[in-house]
Amino acid sequence: MLPPILANLRIPVVASPMFIVSGPDLVIAQCKAGIVGSFPALNAREKDGEPALLDAWLTRIAEELDRHNQANPDHPAAPFAVNQIVHRSNARLQRDIEICHKHRVPIWITSLGARPEVNAAAHDCGGIALHDVINERFARKAIEKGADGLIAVAAGAGGHAGPQSPFALVQEIRTWFDGPLLLSGAIATGRAVLAAQAMGADLAYVGSPFIATEEANAPADYKRMIVESGAEDVVTSSLFTGVSGNYLAPSIRAAGLDPDRLERGEVSDMSFDENSPRPKAWSQIWGSGQGIGAVREVVAAAGLVDRLAREHAEARAALCGA
Ligand SMILES: Cc1cc2nc3c(=O)[nH]c(=O)nc-3n(C[C@H](O)[C@H](O)[C@H](O)COP(=O)(O)O)c2cc1C
Repeated sequence: MLPPILANLRIPVVASPMFIVSGPDLVIAQCKAGIVGSFPALNAREKDGEPALLDAWLTRIAEELDRHNQANPDHPAAPFAVNQIVHRSNARLQRDIEICHKHRVPIWITSLGARPEVNAAAHDCGGIALHDVINERFARKAIEKGADGLIAVAAGAGGHAGPQSPFALVQEIRTWFDGPLLLSGAIATGRAVLAAQAMGADLAYVGSPFIATEEANAPADYKRMIVESGAEDVVTSSLFTGVSGNYLAPSIRAAGLDPDRLERGEVSDMSFDENSPRPKAWSQIWGSGQGIGAVREVVAAAGLVDRLAREHAEARAALCGA
């Protein structure tokens, strides 16, 4: 059974959080279009001495969604989610948890570390916690530590993808877990959303297609590269963050590197410290999953959600006569 907060979406889709790319404009558009919108807390970066930008973002999102709901009682906005990077180099984690708790964030997405105190903070303010995992072992740990649901990050996903086939990952998790399960990795059509459900997931977790939307905080060249690229243009490398991730080969070439001859990175190099001299990843080396062959133009986020909803209904009708 899905918790009520995830049960009444227009289509079973959660838009995944994307470093730099996802901000309030995109989240508000996603939620108004009827799917869960999300952003990483770390994207809200204020200059030294300024008030916390995360606080301002959460106020704005709540106010705009509230206004939408009052004007559209028949089509209320979907809830939103905030992603916490639970990694030792994230020096802001405690502060960001407090801000999210104060704003009673309804859905908390944790990545790169499962910690009971983060889940407890989510529960204490009435929210739910979803943790992203790349294998069954991490999935068990996440549930033991108090997560309510899991996001299975399979091969082909943008960002820090896992190596496993979505079939294998969902099948193993579903042998023991019947709670909320999201599946991610190259899901870019409504047909693929339905396939995720057929495999045993409750919801699809979709990232890269939203890079090519008007509301995404991404340079025009990045959006264009998403539109012009396909699965073959996505390369997997650990060089940029120390952990295996998927990136657009043309952006690696543009940075003067050969995408076919990249050195390995070390996990100890991973850092979410703003002052880290290291990763050019995300700002210069552009991340993407393998599903972008389905992305043909830059559109408003609502247009992308409309396409997913239409394709999902058509695929259901074609397969189930529903
Ligand atoms: C550019 C980019 C940045 C990302 N940044 C984050 C992040 O900050 N936190 C996180 O949990 N996941 C991040 N991800 C992973 C996504 O949340 C999600 O797992 C992935 O986008 C799903 O695969 P798809 O892009 O093929 O749809 C990122 C993905 C991309 C493409």
